[in-house]
Amino acid sequence: MRVVILDSTDAVSRFAADQVADVMHRSRNSGKSPVLGLATGGTPLGLYNELIQRYRDGSLSFADVRSFNLDEYVGLPPEHDQSYHYYMKESLFQHIDIRMENTAVPQTWQCDLSISALEYESKIKNAGGIDLQILGIGTDGHIGFNEVGSSLASRTRLKTLTRQTRSDNARYFTSIDDVPIAAITMGIATILEARAILLLATGANKAKAVAGCVEGAISSGLPASALQLHPNVTIVVDRAAASLLHHAEYYEDSERVRVKLQSPQ
Ligand code: GLP
Repeated sequence: MRVVILDSTDAVSRFAADQVADVMHRSRNSGKSPVLGLATGGTPLGLYNELIQRYRDGSLSFADVRSFNLDEYVGLPPEHDQSYHYYMKESLFQHIDIRMENTAVPQTWQCDLSISALEYESKIKNAGGIDLQILGIGTDGHIGFNEVGSSLASRTRLKTLTRQTRSDNARYFTSIDDVPIAAITMGIATILEARAILLLATGANKAKAVAGCVEGAISSGLPASALQLHPNVTIVVDRAAASLLHHAEYYEDSERVRVKLQSPQ
């Protein structure tokens, strides 16, 4: 795992936008349209603003990009202001040149949920898989809505939300009773099939989950720890989210060495 510790949330967003731009560039260079895996929540908003700025200043186009979101609540229509369909439109899609027909968020409204989950998996496969999956992390270490106890071999499916997740996300709703009780989420195995993964975390409330993800034992008890099994993962965090990492000094040394080895001799 590459662990990048930065001084501010803005620096985290800029770093993440550079990674997205780089992956898009590489896909196009190999004659492929980029396929991005997208996340919701408060954490990626800075990244999305940065991508919007780069689109506006003409340095980045999304005209050929396909996207797949990690998850969607069950029980909210797509036009509900807390649905992830709505979030993506408001926070990113309507501000850039991506074609809406090339964006996908799991369908959960008035449909058969198990068929919807299966179809989502095939859609990702038919697109040739995901080049870069963006992730946030829950305070308990969940990724997407793969709650504590999720099988590390899980695929896109219906998942009941934990009380912790519902209480963390209650800030976006009028009351906790309005927070949906379930979601469709890409599974952990689905996420691990992405060719590269970029997990963003900011703030002291994520420090424990980040430490478990990077330095803890691989366990369904902290679903993000499964990322240790993937050969191309970057964890980018601010200092607060990095505060419980035992080997922070080593990660910072590694970044310095990386810069040194990449600069012309
Ligand atoms: C939800 C989402 C996750 C997200 C997490 C943390 O549970 N399903 O994808 O990572 O919230 O969100 P935030 O970035 O707001 O802390």
